[in-house]
Amino acid sequence: MTQYTIGYIVGSISSTSLNRKLAKALAALAPENVELHEIPIKDLPFYSPDHDADYPQVAREFKQAIADVDGVIIVTPEYSRSIPGVLKNALDWAARPYGQASLDGKPTAVIGTSGGPISTAAAQQHLKAILSHYNAPTLGQPEGYIQALPGLFGDNGEVTNEGTAAFLRAYLDAFVALVGRYVDVKDASVAA
Ligand SMILES: Cc1cc2nc3c(=O)[nH]c(=O)nc-3n(C[C@H](O)[C@H](O)[C@H](O)COP(=O)(O)O)c2cc1C
Repeated sequence: MTQYTIGYIVGSISSTSLNRKLAKALAALAPENVELHEIPIKDLPFYSPDHDADYPQVAREFKQAIADVDGVIIVTPEYSRSIPGVLKNALDWAARPYGQASLDGKPTAVIGTSGGPISTAAAQQHLKAILSHYNAPTLGQPEGYIQALPGLFGDNGEVTNEGTAAFLRAYLDAFVALVGRYVDVKDASVAA
């Protein structure tokens, strides 16, 4: 069975982030042939074009971490009906220098949790528009709007509701299928 490596970016730098708990749940539920790990963003400074000629080491490592994985899941809260500034800042680092966009052609998926009944739906629509601009193929279905009911996620990948766990497994299966289509095409073009 083909092995895949998937990175996840958490759009929150809160020490008690619910979205990081959701990301850890995804990592714990991943199929055997998939390894999930975090691509951290919290040490990235503010992006400025002044850095384009000589990216700082932390930003080089961030871009390399994206290059090293077969796909990226963005697990994000919603702030004021959009994505948090820390996530947008990370995406700006990924988008530059001009012509070296890290997410161009990279399979992506978005998911997120918040306490509200529509969860992070508005933020995810904004995020999908950004990913489309990067030419990143993005999972359409299922959509990952997870309402954070109290105690749903533990600190170490536990999910207390079996229905939610089953949904997250199906979500991962759908994303791995998308990743497989792109990785297989890339491998075939290398072999040709
Ligand atoms: C500045 C700010 C704006 C927020 N705006 C929204 C919002 O638009 N929609 C929503 O569902 N929750 C909103 N929330 C609540 C967050 O969803 C909640 O704090 C969530 O736990 C944040 O995710 P995290 O725990 O992973 O950091 C907001 C929180 C903050 C701090």
